[in-house]
Amino acid sequence: MNFQDMLARAVLSTSGDAIVASDDNGVVRFWNRGAERIFGYTSGDAVGQSLDIIIPEPLRNRHWAGYRRVMATGESRYGHGDVLAVPAIRKDGVRISIEFTIVPLHDAGGKMVGMGAIMRDVTKRFEELRALRKTLANRDPIPIERIEGRPLDLFLICRYENELFFQRVDRLPNPAGAGART
Ligand code: HEM
Repeated sequence: MNFQDMLARAVLSTSGDAIVASDDNGVVRFWNRGAERIFGYTSGDAVGQSLDIIIPEPLRNRHWAGYRRVMATGESRYGHGDVLAVPAIRKDGVRISIEFTIVPLHDAGGKMVGMGAIMRDVTKRFEELRALRKTLANRDPIPIERIEGRPLDLFLICRYENELFFQRVDRLPNPAGAGART
């Protein structure tokens, strides 16, 4: 086996990320160990079924409209590494958040024969972010002058996914902040 084949085999069998491939009709043809772990379907359960098994009902029409268009034209709006973030449904009915990239699959003659997808479960991060947004949304907006004026408030400013979040705190949570505010 040459190095690339060995690498391909190892990457496809990862249980970290879900790697899934479907044919031109959207029927699952490949389902790796990561997909088994994340979605709860074994490869035997999933292969031969529609991708609908993981797509929440309200999103199916949009997904299939896009899928059919890409199959017909060979062009995807997300074919250049863009990350799609969507909710998904596990076999046990639990809703999770996933992020994924897609890759078109072509046969030797260049004809589109399906799609591959590499998916990651980001539920934990998504829920943390939602909780953080909610906490901050419930606070009164504080004009920036108050940061510079008196009495002095301490703020934690954190950057998450290119957004800045401000949180008023009593003291800084590290040694640099010891005794920062009485
Ligand atoms: C939980 C799973 C999934 C959900 C909720 C979902 C949902 C969606 C949605 C909402 C769109 C429309 C995006 C837009 O118009 O901007 C879309 C498009 C698409 N999806 Fe899915 N999808 C899922 C899984 C997959 C998988 C596994 C594949 C490939 C194997 C795939 C292939 C595509 C393609 C090719 C498009 C069209 C992209 C384009 O417009 O260029 N999807 N999907």
